[in-house]
Amino acid sequence: MTPAPPQQGKPIPAVQEALLSWFDHSGRALPWRLGEEGARDPYRVWVAEILLQQTQVARGLVYYERFLTAFPSVQALAEAPIDAVLKAWEGCGYYARARNLHKAAGVMVTGGVPSTYAGWLALPGVGPYTAAAVSSLAFNEGRAVNDGNVRRVLARLYGERLPTEPWVQARADALLAQSRPGAFNEAVMDLGATICTPKAPRCEACPLAAWCEASASGEPTAFPAPKVRAAVRDVGAVAVLIGNGENAVLERRQGALLGGLMGLPSELREPDEAAAEALARLCTRLDATPGAMLGTVTHAMTHRRIVLDVYAANSAQARTPVQDAALSRLDHKALGLLEARRGSLFGVQDLV
Ligand code: ADE
Repeated sequence: MTPAPPQQGKPIPAVQEALLSWFDHSGRALPWRLGEEGARDPYRVWVAEILLQQTQVARGLVYYERFLTAFPSVQALAEAPIDAVLKAWEGCGYYARARNLHKAAGVMVTGGVPSTYAGWLALPGVGPYTAAAVSSLAFNEGRAVNDGNVRRVLARLYGERLPTEPWVQARADALLAQSRPGAFNEAVMDLGATICTPKAPRCEACPLAAWCEASASGEPTAFPAPKVRAAVRDVGAVAVLIGNGENAVLERRQGALLGGLMGLPSELREPDEAAAEALARLCTRLDATPGAMLGTVTHAMTHRRIVLDVYAANSAQARTPVQDAALSRLDHKALGLLEARRGSLFGVQDLV
């Protein structure tokens, strides 16, 4: 017997109805979901969507509250100095997003908060995903979002192992409940995050299981096929800690890797350059005396991993309070090396 062909034609109204009623009783209570459905505060939605682009909801919640407390409105964000915005963004990574939030807030203070997909798309740092999310959640516009959760849920529902971006968008557009676009978008996100998870989907609890090709196949995790990831390249660098865990010499980083943030003075290693040579170059630039190696810390990004060798050093340069600066996670790890070694209140002079 030949197997049944994949069921491409779904009873769309029934699928929408099942998903929305599941969302009505099982959707998550999240802080940007305050207020009436389809008429949420666009500022709160926008900040959440930008923050959650690279951060899981559970972790993002803490950062979200911190950011909203520091900047409760577009006006407050626009008026803040960029360094305060970067400080409030600390730990969230991808700092270009914080810079764009600040820039876009400035645009909105003068030009007004957009109320359409097209208006949001024109703002700095806002792409099709964010524009669709904000316009549907806050303004009830019929725009379907397309992110990792949507891709997985739809790939499984339709039994597509290799979903392309246009395929996902077309399926999402066709399935979107035009009567409740914001709720529909968030329902797919919540389903993907809580039921249709990457490694352990709970098909028995899924409102869409009756129509799902991947569930019917008995191997739902085979959909979509894993993406072939580009190799992650190691980038070597050296940094010096002059001072202690509370007051240290800090510099504003230049260049593509963590550029714009404050951090321990550092130099990237040239290809094939020994750490000792890069350290000598760094110490010459700072007029510093190198000391003991404190350890190595790493920071993984999408395509690169920074491998930072951290040394104690001494120099006459002015130290600044570490607590006030917006530091990358990598620098926090580097400062932690000293704490692990001696306790943060001790200086590094004994190690120099
Ligand atoms: N992930 C990104 N945006 C989200 C939202 N609005 N609700 C739940 N999870 C999300």
